[in-house]
Amino acid sequence: MTSLLIAYHSQSGASAQLARAAWRGASAEPGVNVVVRRVWDAGVAELRQAQGLLLVAAENSGSLSGGMKDFLDRTFYPAIASGLVLPYAVLLSAGNDGRGALRQLQRIMSGYPFPAAAEPVVLRGEVSAAHLQAAGELGAAFAAGLEMGIF
Ligand SMILES: Cc1cc2nc3c(=O)[nH]c(=O)nc-3n(C[C@H](O)[C@H](O)[C@H](O)COP(=O)(O)O)c2cc1C
Repeated sequence: MTSLLIAYHSQSGASAQLARAAWRGASAEPGVNVVVRRVWDAGVAELRQAQGLLLVAAENSGSLSGGMKDFLDRTFYPAIASGLVLPYAVLLSAGNDGRGALRQLQRIMSGYPFPAAAEPVVLRGEVSAAHLQAAGELGAAFAAGLEMGIF
């Protein structure tokens, strides 16, 4: 069965809420197994079991949150060694900006042989119903694309 890994890092719970909303949206797609993991609990073993990767994190001090950076740093060489090529998407939570985190994440991902499956989604301010909807729609679209094999 096609599997989508949602790997998230969250300090206050905002990114965790978005990850859960993405999970709900993706889970509505039949035929896709959606796995949600905190980045601290995920590594290359989880990547090997996935056919798609949704990264959910925040901007902290103008940069990608440290937990997400740690996940990507930790998995880079093992992922390359395993020949992994996973379509990925990005969901970022930010207070009022998010550009620094997005720039850094895109720079990091340009080193991975992973194709982007969707435009990055940056959600600013406190988590709202509109944010949860956007996160759910991203999860649903990613899962549907995976199921159709379009990435
Ligand atoms: C230490 C710290 C630094 C932050 N720096 C930024 C920042 O540079 N730009 C921004 O837009 N938001 C910034 N924020 C706000 C967070 O991105 C925002 O609250 C986000 O929703 C946090 O998600 P999380 O708690 O799930 O990690 C910062 C928050 C913290 C705690």
